[in-house]
Amino acid sequence: MADKTILKALRGETQSVPPIWMMRQAGRYLPEYRATRAQAGDFLKLCYNPELAAEVTLQPIRRFGFDAAILFADILLLPQALGADLWFVTGEGPRLSTITQQSDFNALKGKDDIHKVLNPVYETVKILAQELPDETTLIGFAGAPWTVATYMLAGRGTPDQGPAHALRMGNNELFENVINLLTVSTIEYLDMQIRAGAEVVKIFDSWAGSLKGEAFEKYAVEPARLITRELKRRHPNVPIIGFPREAGDGYIGFAKKTGVDCVALDNSVTPEWGAANVQVDGCVQGNLKSSHMVTGGQDLIDEVRHVRDTFAKGPHIFNLGHGITPDADPDNVALMIETLRENA
Ligand code: CP3
Repeated sequence: MADKTILKALRGETQSVPPIWMMRQAGRYLPEYRATRAQAGDFLKLCYNPELAAEVTLQPIRRFGFDAAILFADILLLPQALGADLWFVTGEGPRLSTITQQSDFNALKGKDDIHKVLNPVYETVKILAQELPDETTLIGFAGAPWTVATYMLAGRGTPDQGPAHALRMGNNELFENVINLLTVSTIEYLDMQIRAGAEVVKIFDSWAGSLKGEAFEKYAVEPARLITRELKRRHPNVPIIGFPREAGDGYIGFAKKTGVDCVALDNSVTPEWGAANVQVDGCVQGNLKSSHMVTGGQDLIDEVRHVRDTFAKGPHIFNLGHGITPDADPDNVALMIETLRENA
């Protein structure tokens, strides 16, 4: 177990062939995923069905031999466990009940009352810990408080996170109540994933880039620091990956400020910039453009080599800069892995 390539990278080892996994590796670009999702009925039923959620988690491992499996679930299950209504509109995305006043917040559950709803997720982790190949690392995850709050406050995905920014400025006390509840609940949620068998956890802050200056420090850095500090106290040997997507200069020093073991990079920064400014502090993950999984060809081969070789002097986990899209071709995923490992 100590020899798993992902864990080596997260301990700071430089490897001649970096380990690889892919954001949204279980998803609609795979026909076997679409079949299992149809069997489950819909996306949320799939998330809460441990046998089938484990099955879709394993599908990309069987097909491609990735070095890590990421638990199949969603960042919006936590707000649902806190009492928000959640549903998915096909072709559009998530919808949630909103929080606009203190009484909406007061109606939510507390951090210790989330596990009844989330228990199927922990069951999925337990199945995966049994069934994954010995060399494959199991990654658990949660959304970062800010990103989850943007969905809870708007009731849906938004291009500019407008409603969350409006509350942050218009009723900062209520906004901070939401952030603080999500911070303490995320600790309990990830703690339970680790106790069920997750070997690494990742905190997805997909909308960190819309926080600037002091707001980035208060609502992206600080919650990640609090979550990391408490998880490290409870589980000193479980590495944590942070993903403050589109943070730009906010990526610089993020690992030192928060204590995360690895920073995932998106495509708003080049590999050269990431190596010079972020990998100097430790392990990085990323950052091939997801569009190569649609377009393929020689460009894909060249760009896989470019990303790999630019990060070759330090600890690196190869990944995309964001999730693979439903229009991707599975053959391009195979070509990415083959190219990455060509000198092995
Ligand atoms: O394979 C994996 O990466 C693990 C599973 C996973 C999902 N969502 C499954 C999913 C993970 C890690 C997530 C994280 C997630 N969910 C994020 C953060 C990462 C990111 O993409 O920025 C966010 C913002 C969400 C919220 C969410 N879930 C949205 C906005 C949507 C709709 C958009 C879309 O792609 O359809 C989802 C749905 C979702 N989550 C799907 C999957 C496989 C597609 C649902 C389907 O099968 O219909």
